[in-house]
Amino acid sequence: MQPVTMDHLPTIAPDRLPELLRRMPKAELHIHIEGSLEPELIFQLARRNGVSLPYANVEELRKAYAFTNLQSFLDIYYAGASVLLKEQDFHDMAWAYLRRAQADNVLHAEIFFDPQTHTARGVSMETVVRGLHSACERARTELGVQASLILCFLRHLSEADAFETLEQALPLRDRFIGVGLDSSEVGHPPEKFARVFARCRELGLHIVAHAGEEGPPAYVWQALDILKAERIDHGVQSPKDPALVRRLAQDRIPLTVCPLSNLKLCVFPQLADHNLGRLLDAGLVATVNSDDPAYFGGYLNDNFIQTFAATGLTAPQAWQLARNSFEASFVDAAAKRRYVERLDAAFASFA
Ligand code: HPA
Ligand code: ZN
Repeated sequence: MQPVTMDHLPTIAPDRLPELLRRMPKAELHIHIEGSLEPELIFQLARRNGVSLPYANVEELRKAYAFTNLQSFLDIYYAGASVLLKEQDFHDMAWAYLRRAQADNVLHAEIFFDPQTHTARGVSMETVVRGLHSACERARTELGVQASLILCFLRHLSEADAFETLEQALPLRDRFIGVGLDSSEVGHPPEKFARVFARCRELGLHIVAHAGEEGPPAYVWQALDILKAERIDHGVQSPKDPALVRRLAQDRIPLTVCPLSNLKLCVFPQLADHNLGRLLDAGLVATVNSDDPAYFGGYLNDNFIQTFAATGLTAPQAWQLARNSFEASFVDAAAKRRYVERLDAAFASFA
C-alpha cells in the first residue's frame, strides 16, 4: 500500500479520543498467545492438569509481575506456560484472547506461539497447533474475527533446535502463515538463525523477527538483510541509527510497537517518553500492539488509550496507526482495502 494523506478525516474533539480509540477497527500483529494467559486461567489449568505452581494463589502470582528488563519477564512467562498440556488448554487460552480482541474491535489478529516452550516439556507440536488453530477457526465463525498463527523460534536456543522445530511443524504447514524470532534478544543476534530462515523463505512462509526491543540497530539491519524480515517486532531502538530509519521508511517495513510492554520492561522510563509519535513523524509504518497483555497490564485498547493520554497523540494519528495495522498485515490487497473502508466508515460515523 502507498502512503496516503489524512485530508478526508473529520474533526474529532480530544475528549472523545478514548471512545474513538475503542471503537475504531484495527488489526493486532504482535501478541504472544502464551502472554495472554491470565493468572486466573493459569491456576484453573494447573488444577485441571495437576500441575503444581511455585505461587500459592492468583494474588501472589500477580505480585511477581514486577519486571526490570526482558529476561526478568521471560523467566515468569515460561513458568506460567507450564500449565499448558492438552489440546483443549491451548484452545481455551487462544479463545479467551480472541474474545478480548473482539471486544477491542480487532478485526484481524496474527498470533505468535512458542512451540519450543511446550515441546521441551513433552507436549507434541500437533497438540499445540491443533488447539490454537481450532480457536482461530471458531473466532472466524462465532466472533467475526480473522486470526492466523505465526510460529516463533526461541533465540536463546540453537539454530539446530529451530530446524528440528520447523521439521516437526511441517506436517501442519497449512495452519500457520509465517515464522518469527523471540525470547532473549541481547547476545542472540538474528544472524544466528540465517540458515533456518532461508529454509522458511523457500517454504513460502512469511518472515518477521523481534529486533531492536533491547538490542541495537545492528540487529534490526540483520533481521532485514539476513533474515529478510517483512516486519520488525518492536524496533524502537531504530532511531539510534538515522540510516536505518531511512531504510525502514523507504521500504515501508512495518514496526509492531508495544508501548505498555516497553514501559513494563523498562525500555522507556515513562510512557510519556515513548517514541511512537516520533516514529510516525519519521514516516514509519508503526503499529500499536499488546505483546503479552496478561503480564503488561493491558490489551490492545488499553495500549492505545494509555499511550495517547501520555504522549498527546491525536485523532489523525489514531487513524494512521489503525490503517498501518491493516497495511502491515499479511492479508491480500483486496482484504486490506475492505478493512480500510471499514476504518474510514467508523471515523465518518464518529464525526
Ligand atoms: N520480546 C521477546 N520475546 C518475547 C516477548 C518480547 O517482548 N514476549 C514474549 N516473548
Ligand atoms: Zn513480543
